Amino acid sequence: MALNITFQNQAPTTVLCIGVHENGPLACDPGYGDKDTRDLLSKAIQNSTFKGKISQSLTVFTQEGQRLILIGLGVKENQDKSNREIYWQKIGSAVSCALQSAGCTEGSVDIHDAREEDSFVLSNIALGTLLRSWRFEKYFTKKEPDELFRLTQVTFQTTMAEAVEKAFSPLAILADSVFLTRSLVTEPGNVVNPETLALAATSLQKAGVTVEILEESELKKLGMGALLGVGQGSAHDSKVAVMRWDGGQKGDAPLAFVGKGVTFDSGGLSLKSSTGMEEMKDDMGGAGVVIGLMQALALRKAKINCVGVIALVENMPSSTAQRPGDVVTSLSGQTIEVLNTDAEGRLILADALWYTQDRFKPKLMIDLATLTGAMVVCLGKERAGLFATDDDLANKLLKAGETVDELLWRLPLDDAYDKEINSNIADMKNISGGRGAGSITAAKFLQRFVNNVPWAHLDIAGVTLMDKDLPLSAKGATAFGVRLLNRFVEDNYEG
Ligand code: BES
Ligand code: ZN
Ligand code: ZN
Repeated sequence: MALNITFQNQAPTTVLCIGVHENGPLACDPGYGDKDTRDLLSKAIQNSTFKGKISQSLTVFTQEGQRLILIGLGVKENQDKSNREIYWQKIGSAVSCALQSAGCTEGSVDIHDAREEDSFVLSNIALGTLLRSWRFEKYFTKKEPDELFRLTQVTFQTTMAEAVEKAFSPLAILADSVFLTRSLVTEPGNVVNPETLALAATSLQKAGVTVEILEESELKKLGMGALLGVGQGSAHDSKVAVMRWDGGQKGDAPLAFVGKGVTFDSGGLSLKSSTGMEEMKDDMGGAGVVIGLMQALALRKAKINCVGVIALVENMPSSTAQRPGDVVTSLSGQTIEVLNTDAEGRLILADALWYTQDRFKPKLMIDLATLTGAMVVCLGKERAGLFATDDDLANKLLKAGETVDELLWRLPLDDAYDKEINSNIADMKNISGGRGAGSITAAKFLQRFVNNVPWAHLDIAGVTLMDKDLPLSAKGATAFGVRLLNRFVEDNYEG
């Protein structure tokens, strides 16, 4: 069930979260409760391991049976030294975790620091609570209610409900769009296929996005031989979805976002080993981010023209599948020797990137792809890889990532790496001749399909699915990239 968030002058107090600083007096002091209650809380703190550290919490029952949940706020002086919005979002996340582990369905929050502050603080706490509360439980049919996520209502105590609501409303839209992406990534491969993912894109029409689906016959006519080769072993037709949000000046060149949408990557005839193959349902993560991003931009009526292009295929082995050694002709006219059918992401992106720059003449182009396992070897699951032909674009993306805590790390695109993908019988091959730098040679492959437009490539292979909880997302799909790109657009291109 979805979590409902409200802001009120008088919140219910049966379950109340209050903030406590590390090594300080009660944060609510002297604003909260009577002397007896404050004494009770002080004693509880003394007799526990609760120190007020960030993400610590402590539940105390009053004599009246009221449940007070102390939420650690960390050292007060450090608050302003860190990224303030992320700091408060993490406090919100702690609220979600504390209420959930206490088994509550409803709770209120009264954080003195926030009450005193502007709406920025409260709206960010609420965003953190919301982001951390998302769960995907639709396929459980046997669990008892108390085994499922129960929190359905969180009320924030504030004297400025209207102002906070106004600040929170674009953040709630953003969270909804993050959830759309997380759902699409979490749905299994028998549910999300090129058709259903195209339908998900089409449903953005209700948000005001113009959507066009290019069917396989049109892709053939256009000459997308690289993309079609990947999908030819699947029972599902390949597709390209084009989403446009025109919130800017008429005629202004759009920002373009391109996503890898391999709805399941078995590897094709270069079949992956069975260990972990199930994770390859997330190989449409880039496309999922583009869908979520386009929804966020449209719902908050961003003053900018944007286009999202997603390449939708399923990579399967079958008698019609592409063979290792096949040569395909891409939309650009360049030929590719497919030496490994598991290096398929670059093949579909080659055509999608070319198509996007050719048709839309964008101001800049950014692609997102769960492209290489080598990215996970290189950066683990802490940061995504950034490749860019333009320093200004790279720096804007790095900064947006820091702001929303979706961290990037820039890697090189030196020409020296490019020769590794020359083929003996075609213009290029889809895997490197050398052993190392798999993520870089993949990016160099993509670069061969990008002309003069400033371009960036985000390799999100490591950050799309997590096997552990993060502050702003429970274990599972993160939607890494939606908040980052939404902020990138907002901070740099909306005047
Ligand atoms: N979708 C995978 C990359 C991937 C791996 C994403 C692990 C998320 C987690 C991609 O299509 C792939 O299979 N890449 C190959 C390339 C190789 C054959 C050159 C890889 O990384 O092993
Ligand atoms: Zn693959
Ligand atoms: Zn793949």
